[in-house]
Amino acid sequence: MKGARKIGRKPTARKSKNGRHFFPSRSGFWKGKGCLAPQPHLCSRHLPNRNPLPKGDITMAFELPALPYAYDSLSPFMSAETLEFHHDKHHQAYVTNGNNLLKDSGLEGLSLEEIVKQSHGKNAGLFNNAGQHYNHIHFWNWMKKDGGGNKLPGKLQAAVDSDLGGYDKFKADFVAAGTTQFGSGWAWLSVKDGKLEISKTPNGESPLIHGASPILGVDVWEHSYYIDYRNARPKYLEAFVDSLINWDYVLEMYEAASK
Ligand code: FE2
Repeated sequence: MKGARKIGRKPTARKSKNGRHFFPSRSGFWKGKGCLAPQPHLCSRHLPNRNPLPKGDITMAFELPALPYAYDSLSPFMSAETLEFHHDKHHQAYVTNGNNLLKDSGLEGLSLEEIVKQSHGKNAGLFNNAGQHYNHIHFWNWMKKDGGGNKLPGKLQAAVDSDLGGYDKFKADFVAAGTTQFGSGWAWLSVKDGKLEISKTPNGESPLIHGASPILGVDVWEHSYYIDYRNARPKYLEAFVDSLINWDYVLEMYEAASK
């Protein structure tokens, strides 16, 4: 049939700088028999199944993923109205603008993570939109209904105890990072040199460009909390930690980053 998509076509292997072959998927995520993704959590084999992979042509790599829960499932800690605007309007805008800026950027066909890293300091528009696309894909998965609290998976609890001084100190430092981020940005828990660390970044930045692997992030742009908490950012951050964090997804990213 003329114009029909070929099914079962083998992906074209490309050679990386170090001579290893990789298979960029149509979504911009990595896939292959052996995971060669620079960050395994961006490999299609390691990305949790609860959230469908973005689909789309490799030169139009960004697509808005579906939320992994209903709009009203995080209420009262995050309202359906907030999620509708945040996901459907704000994240969609990063996807749309990112796709426009990706055209002719010279970075088409790379994984999302590589686009974020390689556009940093060189292509501010693309970096901002690709960075926010990356951050939000994970942000939706970093939350769940009846999440949060101090019941961490054992392996993660041990790392929090040894690297961050325990759960209570983690919570205080994480909330403080989000509270003191001046203007828009994110607070993070990431793995750097094999250890957990807490940090904050402005705008669409993430620990990716600081040599670390993010495993948990909270959006402190006003669009993330103003409908529900007005200007009370610390209350939003407390609710995020106490009632929303999906520790299972944090553990998955921790294990991927620790390999
Ligand atoms: Fe956001």
